[in-house]
Amino acid sequence: MKLKNLKTIVAQAVIDYIPSGSILGIGTGTTVLKFIKILSNVKNLINGTVSSSKISTLYLKKYGMKVFDLNNINHLPLYIDGADAINNNMEMIKGGGGALTGEKILANIADKFICIIDQTKIVEILGTSFPLPVEVIPMAKSYLMREFIKLGGVPKYRKNIITDNGNIIIDIYNLKILDPIKMENVINSFPGVVTVGLFALRKADIILIGTNQGVKIIK
Ligand code: 5RP
Repeated sequence: MKLKNLKTIVAQAVIDYIPSGSILGIGTGTTVLKFIKILSNVKNLINGTVSSSKISTLYLKKYGMKVFDLNNINHLPLYIDGADAINNNMEMIKGGGGALTGEKILANIADKFICIIDQTKIVEILGTSFPLPVEVIPMAKSYLMREFIKLGGVPKYRKNIITDNGNIIIDIYNLKILDPIKMENVINSFPGVVTVGLFALRKADIILIGTNQGVKIIK
């Protein structure tokens, strides 16, 4: 199956997990975009959405969906999002699309986080196949790059990207993340870090994987 079809089957399968009448947290990325399109056909199922990024908000509105400001919502039963890499403990690297801060906020608030991915995202060790994105306050860029080298990584400034929050992204290559929770805590502790794209402290609750054999579910 082509990659885009793997994303479509998983985006379709997650519809069955949506509690009716709820407000739904929406992630960012190409898999989520497919999900938004499919969701728009059954939009009466939900009361509305909260969005993790400006780009997802744009698509949600384009497809006629209500988007609430998170500050006006006090309960989020479910968050649905993709990932760039995920290990067998459901810990993830996210932020390939630069929306990691909004994504992490929604993932942390939600009662349940369902991750929708295609089979290419499964990895044994995080950090080896996909670089770790970190959203950073611009004035801390050089300092943080030095710190990331000390962690054993190869940091690279992501050019021509300003996040939804007016910050920059540093992608850390070649990090072998053997203890994701520890690494998340260490990177979180550096002043100037807004969000690290490591989702280990709050990992997925359910993973739906689009494979050539159909949708595989991991709980
Ligand atoms: C965006 C993300 C996405 O979830 C991640 O990049 C996966 O994207 P795609 O569905 O396009 O493969 O973290 O910041």
